[in-house]
Amino acid sequence: MPLLCLTSPKGGVGKTSLAAGLAHALRQAGRQVLAIDCDPQNALRLHLGLPIADGAGFFARLQDRPDWRASIRTTPAGIALLPYGETDMRGALATASALDRDPELLAGPLRAMLADPALIVLADTPPGASGALSVLAPLATLVLAVLLADAASTALIPDIDSGRFLGRGTLGSLLGPKLLVVLNQVDRHSRLSIAAAEGVAAHLGPRLAGAVCRDDAVAEALACQRPVGMHAPGSRAANDIADLAAAVLRDLPPPVVAPPDPTPLSSPLFPWARP
Ligand SMILES: Nc1ncnc2c1ncn2[C@@H]1O[C@H](COP(=O)(O)OP(=O)(O)O)[C@@H](O)[C@H]1O
Ligand SMILES: [Mg+2]
Repeated sequence: MPLLCLTSPKGGVGKTSLAAGLAHALRQAGRQVLAIDCDPQNALRLHLGLPIADGAGFFARLQDRPDWRASIRTTPAGIALLPYGETDMRGALATASALDRDPELLAGPLRAMLADPALIVLADTPPGASGALSVLAPLATLVLAVLLADAASTALIPDIDSGRFLGRGTLGSLLGPKLLVVLNQVDRHSRLSIAAAEGVAAHLGPRLAGAVCRDDAVAEALACQRPVGMHAPGSRAANDIADLAAAVLRDLPPPVVAPPDPTPLSSPLFPWARP
């Protein structure tokens, strides 16, 4: 039922790495997770261990109204994944304008996903304001904005306060009440990074959902196509992401316990998921 969106004002801040890490940590906490990649970079699948040659996906084919259940891949970490799908710039632009004309292309399937009370749906979105985020935001339980612990992030604090963060007007005000911030790549050996993290934390208070340290284990995990908590459990970044997952879970409704099913399922996690 809950929808978590990961977003960021700019790219390269670790949004997809944290989406994969958070999906894994939530799964480790016993929750069922469906991760949706809404970013044409189609990178979430790499973090979650899908074969590189597998270019199938959901979002890239939105115009064809694909069956989202049939597009699901189950990953080695037990996370159900809707990859974006392979595309090029022309395809990504065509998808974006189709979504702009008809937001129901995404909103319809999303509502069906969110109807499952046992499921946490976690979406990775492109950086900045996007058509995907404008469809996701009204349905979202929490929007997690990833910022680096640097001077540029501290400069964004006034926009976070005013609700203009990630877009003026409707989108900003839609995000306002459910917007939390995650600081990534906090470098405990850098005075600037620590000062920026402390400044953002002092200002945001409870709107800071968590902070994740800079840790080579994150990049190594991607090289091994695994979420960091699976690749390097006990690493500092994995522990920070587990703390973030615990903070997120405190803000979500409690899990719905499904009644025991007497018939064995074809897949232990999602009976409708294709392996
Ligand atoms: N906490 C971290 N510590 C070290 N490297 C990180 C961390 N988070 C992300 N990275 C690295 O930063 C780069 C960008 O991460 P990515 O998740 O692709 O960002 P985005 O999705 O925001 O574009 C990757 O090389 C990734 O391994
Ligand atoms: Mg990304």
